[in-house]
Amino acid sequence: KRRFRTLRWTWRLTYLSALAGVAYIGYGVYQDRNPEPQAEPDPSKKTLVILGTGWGSVSLLKRLDTENYNVIVISPRNYFLFTPLLPSCTTGTIEHRSIMEPIRTILRSKKASVKFYEAEASAVDPDRKVVRIFDTSEVKGDMIETEVPYDMLVVGVGAENATFGIPGVREHSCFLKEIGDAQRIRKRIMDCVETAAFKDQSPEEVERLMHMVVVGGGPTGVEFAGELQDFFEEDIKKLVPEISDRFKVTLIEALPNVLPSFSKQLIEYTESTFKEEKINIHTKTVVKKVTDKTVEAEVTRADGTKEKVTFPYGLLVWATGNAVRPVVKDLMDRIPAQKNSRRGLAVNEYLVVQGARDIWAVGDCAVAGYAPTAQVASQEGNFLARLFNNMARTEALESKVRELSSTLNLQPGNTAEISREIEEYERQLRRIKDVKPFHYSHQGSLAYIGSEKAVADVTWFNGNVAAAGGLTYLFWRSAYISMCFSTRNRLLVINDWVKSKVFGRDLSRE
Ligand code: FAD
Ligand code: NAI
Repeated sequence: KRRFRTLRWTWRLTYLSALAGVAYIGYGVYQDRNPEPQAEPDPSKKTLVILGTGWGSVSLLKRLDTENYNVIVISPRNYFLFTPLLPSCTTGTIEHRSIMEPIRTILRSKKASVKFYEAEASAVDPDRKVVRIFDTSEVKGDMIETEVPYDMLVVGVGAENATFGIPGVREHSCFLKEIGDAQRIRKRIMDCVETAAFKDQSPEEVERLMHMVVVGGGPTGVEFAGELQDFFEEDIKKLVPEISDRFKVTLIEALPNVLPSFSKQLIEYTESTFKEEKINIHTKTVVKKVTDKTVEAEVTRADGTKEKVTFPYGLLVWATGNAVRPVVKDLMDRIPAQKNSRRGLAVNEYLVVQGARDIWAVGDCAVAGYAPTAQVASQEGNFLARLFNNMARTEALESKVRELSSTLNLQPGNTAEISREIEEYERQLRRIKDVKPFHYSHQGSLAYIGSEKAVADVTWFNGNVAAAGGLTYLFWRSAYISMCFSTRNRLLVINDWVKSKVFGRDLSRE
């Protein structure tokens, strides 16, 4: 009887918490759809210009009290992109819109309104304190290029794809950084499959078309290779069986192993899992040239000799890391203190661009001594929001102290009361002025490696825990679901996962 009662209570509690969860989500959705009226920006406040709508800039915007500044956001992309799930979009496991959040929705939730210009910054003039911007969209108005003045500037433009000037890379390969890249890859995979299945296609051509080559064994290359092999095993093989024995994924890496930033045991686990999944790994292989149908590389053999190898391919995905964007390079050239910086804007411990006044940098375009990851960029954005909120409060309190001090002589009767007020403001000032320098707290690294397996190097009670396999994959999924930008994103991603598991991925080529 007691067991039955316990069961009944457990059931009631589960039911109530589910109900509370639904109510919480419902309330969040209602608030998003019916936002409070926004305050207009105060023209007497400083103009804070933020470049970019990626991890760094959006994390800053999320926590920034926009009532303190006239905030202007400039980016060629009018949405935030949840990059960790981008490799899943290349095969249709997740639909691209599920990991995009419109910047207009994000800005509408702020207390004071924020201006957004969909444009690319082409140059920053630190002397005149202006940003030159131009419209990159397909539809153009009369005004396509102009200048935006700033009092404070945050550069969060990320990085572009590194090609190291290798001939043919830009012309013939697909990158994997933006939504457009993932869509291009998805289309190309299906194009290769359908062309390989074309009547009387020669066996050599089928082999080439079905050979998917990935250059770069960092997390981007590894995750994409895993997703691709899943797509083939779970869907293509069943629906286009006639070419299935020709499908092959090859991963080319210049270093002696893939995932160099992960611990040794996870590297070994990934390499052995890839072997089981029949993904070919070619390490110590440096790509030197790309043509429309082949990748030419140089491999270093065990005895130290070098040999030239050629890989014919149908799809080539280039994932060899980051390079500095032209607008960042241009700004670095204008600041003498940036002369020795190579990988981006060198910043100090408060993320101030060294040698510049009133310019901060976050994320992949900033060199603060950390890896170019979303984790770092978002923590930097959060830090700047705290810093700017504090700066605004400090300025407001200081002006109050100045004002009260100047009235001290004019109102001799109230001296004690005014002094008390000044003392209180000064006490608040002492408390908030103390902003500690930026400190990055590493939560760990996660990567999906295909076949419902993932690897994780997680920080646990000041130590490191390395985990791999199916359970880690469940952890990977739940971690990314909880990190998604909004409830809408979370529901869409869960829906996509269920949809692709139940019905399979969509093979139609758009
Ligand atoms: P971004 O997020 O790239 O944003 C840059 C913004 O600037 C964009 O909005 C862009 O449109 C805008 N912009 C570009 N040029 C200009 C210009 N001239 N003027 C104005 N705006 C401009 N990191 C992790 O920690 N975990 C992961 O699992 C992970 N997975 C990843 C998967 C993939 C496929 C990729 C490509 C990266 C992944 N990363 C991951 C790395 C992570 O995405 C980046 O480190 C992060 O996006 C950097 O943030 P950011 O704000 O500096 O730049
Ligand atoms: P990366 O810089 O991490 O790796 C690029 C790889 O390409 C390197 O291992 C390099 O040796 C190799 N390479 C360079 N030139 C080559 C050539 N000519 N031939 C063959 N190989 C060559 O780049 P990636 O993977 O794009 O990642 C960029 C950043 O984003 C990293 O900081 C990474 O940690 C982060 N990221 C994190 C993810 C995660 O945590 N799951 C997923 C994706 C990216």
